[in-house]
Amino acid sequence: MKLTILIAVAATLAAVNLASAQESKLPPASTKENITYATDIKPLFDANCVKCHSGDKPKAHLKLDTLEGVLKGNKWGPVVKAGAAADSIVVKAIAHQTKDHDGWMPPMPNRAGAKTLTPEQIGLVIGWINQGAK
Ligand code: HEC
Repeated sequence: MKLTILIAVAATLAAVNLASAQESKLPPASTKENITYATDIKPLFDANCVKCHSGDKPKAHLKLDTLEGVLKGNKWGPVVKAGAAADSIVVKAIAHQTKDHDGWMPPMPNRAGAKTLTPEQIGLVIGWINQGAK
């Protein structure tokens, strides 16, 4: 009887562990070479982020419509850490890695026509940052 309970507890713990391991898994980085903001990332951000993250009052004080804006981040600090995609807030936001679901970007549903990024699109952003965010 006691053994049964132990096994049940162990199985539950294993399941919880597995769930959190899967949660922290990012899509693979794109294998594309020379990924740049201008050619690869701006079109993606223009379509899915810039309606909210540009202009005089960008959401979260964060402008994503220029490379300067993206690299500058906001008053809480940078959102892109060149060379370290997994540590970059922007990756956590688009890959739904923030604990607080309010930080999942773009927020869904929204009226900006912004769509949740595909694993391929997230992989492109990851590759871009790992290649130095140029
Ligand atoms: C419909 C409007 C909207 C769209 C579209 C949108 N965002 Fe946001 N974004 C917000 C709001 C609002 C916040 C503040 C959320 C909060 O902290 O509760 C935010 C916060 C963020 C933050 C967090 C900043 C910080 O310092 O914590 C990042 C990074 C971000 N957005 C990136 C993006 C990216 C990348 C996209 C496109 C893939 C995107 N957002 C699309 C409205 C939007």
